[in-house]
Amino acid sequence: MAALRHSGMRPLILAGKRLSAPSAAAPRLSLTQSITRPFSVSSSKMSSSFYPGEPEAPELKTGIPGPKSQEHIAKLDKVFDTRSLNMLADYTQSFGNYFVDPDGNKLLDVYAQIASIPLGYNNPALKKAAQSPEMIDAIINRPALGNFPSHNWAEILETGILKVAPKGLDQVFTAMAGSDANETAYKAAFMWRRMKDRGGPTVEFTEEEMQSSMNNQTPGASQLSIMSFKAAFHGRLFGSLSTTRSKPIHKLDIPAFDWPQATFPLLKYPLEEHAEENAKAEADSIAEVEDLIKNYHVPPCAVIVEPIQSEGGDNHASPAFFRKLREVTAKHNVLLIVDEVQTGVGATGKFWAHDHWDLPSPPDMVTFSKKAQTAGYYFGNPELRPNKPYRQFNTWMGDPARCLLFRAIIDEVQRLDLVANTAKVGDYLYGKLEALAQKYPEEFKNLRGKNRGTFIAFDNPNRDQFIAKVKKLGVNIGGSGANAVRLRPMLIFEKQHADILLETLEKAVTSA
Ligand SMILES: Cc1ncc(COP(=O)(O)O)c(C=O)c1O
Repeated sequence: MAALRHSGMRPLILAGKRLSAPSAAAPRLSLTQSITRPFSVSSSKMSSSFYPGEPEAPELKTGIPGPKSQEHIAKLDKVFDTRSLNMLADYTQSFGNYFVDPDGNKLLDVYAQIASIPLGYNNPALKKAAQSPEMIDAIINRPALGNFPSHNWAEILETGILKVAPKGLDQVFTAMAGSDANETAYKAAFMWRRMKDRGGPTVEFTEEEMQSSMNNQTPGASQLSIMSFKAAFHGRLFGSLSTTRSKPIHKLDIPAFDWPQATFPLLKYPLEEHAEENAKAEADSIAEVEDLIKNYHVPPCAVIVEPIQSEGGDNHASPAFFRKLREVTAKHNVLLIVDEVQTGVGATGKFWAHDHWDLPSPPDMVTFSKKAQTAGYYFGNPELRPNKPYRQFNTWMGDPARCLLFRAIIDEVQRLDLVANTAKVGDYLYGKLEALAQKYPEEFKNLRGKNRGTFIAFDNPNRDQFIAKVKKLGVNIGGSGANAVRLRPMLIFEKQHADILLETLEKAVTSA
């Protein structure tokens, strides 16, 4: 009931008013048109130029939660823990970049279900895919994929997930969530390393290994670990949680593995003014990684890293840092897992954030979920398939229905050139935020995410109050880490949405 307790429950002065008055209708594009869109759209007072029917601006009719939401929340709280509830949605009324609640409040959504909506609410192309005979078949005949995949499973993968596979990685293990993707990648890493240590895929397990595995023991020298970075977030299942280092509340009371953590370079902003210090922070971090690889008492067989530490506060590092990380892991025969659960699928202005790095050789595994609406890990080395069946296995091993949805998402992203759109809108937004940061340096600190699409963040000293204020002005926005305000708009976020966001951010700073 926290949401109720914290709300003022008073009708807003803004009620019924638009932040920006509606004006000329945007050019509307039908789903079947093929598109080459110029970036520039002249007015901020227009709805989506990708999909017709989006609201033109936020509209607030009541406080949040309003009376109808309060009723639903009270009912929900009797059967479901509502203490983490942010606000209630009416998904039947939400559209495009706009999130609508049961009281008819329309908010521009730049948080997008914790960065997991690629193409907006009630996207017509996805609705169409959801109603296809193929989708209906996949939903009502959900297979146990490892045992009984459908005749067209290879085709679904090749025309979907694998169509956007990161360079050098041509196979996938599908999973159900980001944490699951990471955990299964860790298992693949352990099995790969032990297979190598034993002398190859055909060397059998010893009797001692088999016995001790049943007693939850691993014979001395074969204890291995996964290295992660301080402030990292890789999920909340048992294995993934041991690599998560973001907040105690995520980890308290849960048994964890004795695995190493290296310091993620904490860059200072603006980058141009701290080049030397930042280069040193990155070099120190790489040296620590190498030291832990060589000396940690439970040796790592893999290092996992986020391209931008997301839940941990939007911490960036340079492409040179990641190239060095690739080099040092390869040098010591340690796998590199890049966790693209939050950064993947276009938000940084490239399909995969690690495409920004120009790596000397691809990561060994890349995990994904969120905007893909499915999950899994990509890999290229055939040795990362365990040497025997049933070593990496569960009932569902993913979900073909969700993979079909990802295929439809990929088709739309390509048809509308949405990664390029995100890069351009991101550059525009970043430039305008730079100007705001100059005007209000205390409120927009450590602006970061230049040339990383709309994956932008800044620190605010009163972050939680700031976010609450922005919401009251009609924009749903998220935070990360201790002080960061993180922007995670969808790939259909355009210049006119950026203008509304910017106007709102400034209003939040200047209004009482
Ligand atoms: C980088 C990263 N990895 C893994 C996860 C865990 O994904 P899920 O919540 O789907 O298990 C998240 C979730 O926020 C994430 O941001």
